[in-house]
Amino acid sequence: MAASYQIIDHVYDAVVVGAGGSGLRAAMGIAEAGLKTACITKVFPTRSHTVAAQGGIAASLGNMGPDHWTWHMYDTVKGSDWLGDQDAIEYLCREAPAAVYELEHFGVPFSRTEAGQIYQRPFGGMMQNMGNGPPAQRTCAAADRTGHAMLHALYQQSLKYATDFYIEYFAIDLIMVGGECKGVIAINMDDGSIHRFRSHKTVLATGGYGRCYFSATSAHTSTGDGGGMAIRAGVPMQDMEFVQFHPTGIYGAGVLITEGARGEGGYLTNSQGERFMERYAPSAKDLASRDVVSRSMAMEMREGRGVGKEGDHINLHLDHIDPAVLHERLPGISETAKVFAGVDVTKEPIPVTPTVHYNMGGIPTNYHGEVVTLKDGDPDSVVPGLFAVGEAACVSVHGANRLGSNSLIDLVVFGRATAHRIGETLKPGTAHTPIARAADDFALGRLDGFRHSKGGSPTSEVRLAMQKTMQSNAAVFRTAEILDEGTRKIDAIYQRMADIGIQDRSLVFNTDLIETLELDNMIGQAVLTMHMAKARHESRGAHMHEDFPNRDDVNFMKHSLGWFRDGAVDLAQRPVHEYTLTDEIDYIKPKARVY
Ligand code: FUM
Repeated sequence: MAASYQIIDHVYDAVVVGAGGSGLRAAMGIAEAGLKTACITKVFPTRSHTVAAQGGIAASLGNMGPDHWTWHMYDTVKGSDWLGDQDAIEYLCREAPAAVYELEHFGVPFSRTEAGQIYQRPFGGMMQNMGNGPPAQRTCAAADRTGHAMLHALYQQSLKYATDFYIEYFAIDLIMVGGECKGVIAINMDDGSIHRFRSHKTVLATGGYGRCYFSATSAHTSTGDGGGMAIRAGVPMQDMEFVQFHPTGIYGAGVLITEGARGEGGYLTNSQGERFMERYAPSAKDLASRDVVSRSMAMEMREGRGVGKEGDHINLHLDHIDPAVLHERLPGISETAKVFAGVDVTKEPIPVTPTVHYNMGGIPTNYHGEVVTLKDGDPDSVVPGLFAVGEAACVSVHGANRLGSNSLIDLVVFGRATAHRIGETLKPGTAHTPIARAADDFALGRLDGFRHSKGGSPTSEVRLAMQKTMQSNAAVFRTAEILDEGTRKIDAIYQRMADIGIQDRSLVFNTDLIETLELDNMIGQAVLTMHMAKARHESRGAHMHEDFPNRDDVNFMKHSLGWFRDGAVDLAQRPVHEYTLTDEIDYIKPKARVY
């Protein structure tokens, strides 16, 4: 079957799959180290989902008040509900200021203070003095278009260091030989040609899988393609039960209204006009961490204090803020609110509701970006040749809940760390060993199977069933009953993949086929999310299990690991790294998480 496809060969030292913030930072760094580097991306680089990041990037620059990387670390550990690996969190927070200055030097047009320094706004859960407050202004912003600005600067840098871009190429599968990654097989969507990329190091920078939910702030391209490839390569996924709901997605449209809106003084009210966050988080109020704010909003709606005829949303007020400030610092969301909610933010509140925004879980890695697995009892065993970075990865610095603006910094700090690791461990031009043709057959067999599929289940139907099930059965509040039903339903939906039928048999820009490959990437991650949520009998961060409302550090201060093979799920646990990287800061011990 595979023989019927002609393959075009490419030979590289390293290949990066994905061209968002993490992929571009990794690609430019690898190329800068003198290694021949390719970047494969299914969308034009500056259209990657990073472009949608609004509010900013966290780093303890201290431009707007006192700050220190250890305070940032404390907040990140607390935000993670003690599920984050503290060696990686130390690395992230310590390296963050240098990473932001690097972006500034790359040309990111950050907003400025009167004194000409990078402007920083408060974001949820970011405090001074090891959590004791007051709020820290730590989130560096380019108005409310920070991701857009970063992506353009990083793309320019990647071109400067001569990365070869393969644009509108869709990666189908990894080439794995004896447990080692040797490259990737991709299809050029434009002409249907098949390409084999040999590489010593392959970096998955493919973003999250938010689109397995019905309503998400993620781009429609956020289909977890790297996670899908890793699962099929036998790599476990980590902490998939932790799905972040952003408190302020526009009601109905799901489009993001940045947390920066609350950072600039915005606040939430219920149908009685009450600023209810004062009851749930008396100290941080509207700037509590996202899981806390989302749950509080859901609680208000549940108890009959939601806004609107159906009581199913909440109001976000910016109408008390000086219009000049809105124009300068929040121009993007002012326009978005007009277009998607018909609201003039200077006069009326924006209708918002918690909306799926980010996957804390993903492909497990260490802080060098190397993919790790549980092998022969070693929970940190490195998968040779394979790296993951950005939302596709679970380093894990976000643990059970990510703080806003810690994603953009994760992208560049670990994109850079990955490039350093590859630069240190690979000599340019190292020869490739021949591989058997059978290594490609798996990818081409999958492609061919879907291309000629004639079953009774159209991709769009199966995808919708998955999205609706995830939305109702793996939501902000979970119970054993809802998760039991969710696992049954999602397992049955997975079975429909064998009955997929597509209409278009061509290879040229066959969106029917590409969407089916994307669905195949998402479905395994949806199944793992539901099963891992069912197995976690506690509440921690974004996972609120009403039958187990307390955190259980004895049994569950552990990462979940899950393998998905032919419809079967295997679960295990992996220890959280309860140690720091240096003796400049001690392990931050668990305590109750209140804001
Ligand atoms: O609200 C926001 O601007 C999103 C930021 C983030 O997810 O880090």
